[in-house]
Amino acid sequence: MPTFSYDDLMQLPSRYRGRLLNKISGLKPANLIGTKSKNGQPNLAIFNSVVHIGANPPYLGFILRPTTVERHTYENIKETGWYTINQISAQIHKQAHQTSAKYERGVSEFASVGLTEWYHQDFNAPFVAESHIKIGLQFEEEHYVKCNDTRLVIGKVRHLFLPDNCLDEDGDVRLEDLDSVTIGGLDSYYSIAKLGRYPYAKP
Ligand SMILES: Cc1cc2nc3c(=O)[nH]c(=O)nc-3n(C[C@H](O)[C@H](O)[C@H](O)COP(=O)(O)O)c2cc1C
Repeated sequence: MPTFSYDDLMQLPSRYRGRLLNKISGLKPANLIGTKSKNGQPNLAIFNSVVHIGANPPYLGFILRPTTVERHTYENIKETGWYTINQISAQIHKQAHQTSAKYERGVSEFASVGLTEWYHQDFNAPFVAESHIKIGLQFEEEHYVKCNDTRLVIGKVRHLFLPDNCLDEDGDVRLEDLDSVTIGGLDSYYSIAKLGRYPYAKP
């Protein structure tokens, strides 16, 4: 049985350790974050750490890696206050993965990987036209995570766009009808199958 103590983990080669630790918490949501710099340069990047913070009021968060290199998504969010979270479906997962490459600041990942910018009224951040679920957010707050130099970035949901055929009367979204994918670690993509839906659990 493969077994690792904390010291064993810390002695592993960094890529191996990253691959291992990124996968043991299970599959993660697959999203693209769209932003624009204050000069109007669009940017798009894949994130697997988007998390539900709360519904009342509606907040979503994501974890940002250390800012020891240029982080265009973060810089644009701090400059403008606006960003979008766009769900990755099976049809676009390869293009979505490619957005993780370190493109120069002046290069649009939309154009480079072949995804389409889509705008809503006066909301200035780009949505991904091909994504089935599109969310427009306003930056709310960030929390510095001291132990590993990362940040939890939180935004308020200002706009939510869903396709016609996936929303039930009680507010449930049928992700299984949207060809949604999930991400394992940083390089593996999975499609989903629903096992069931159950009533509110009581003791
Ligand atoms: C599957 C996958 C998931 C990723 N998730 C995150 C994440 O949650 N947080 C993060 O900071 N970077 C994440 N990255 C790395 C960013 O996509 C990458 O650093 C990208 O270049 C950021 O682009 P930007 O500088 O334009 O913001 C992920 C990469 C991959 C391949």
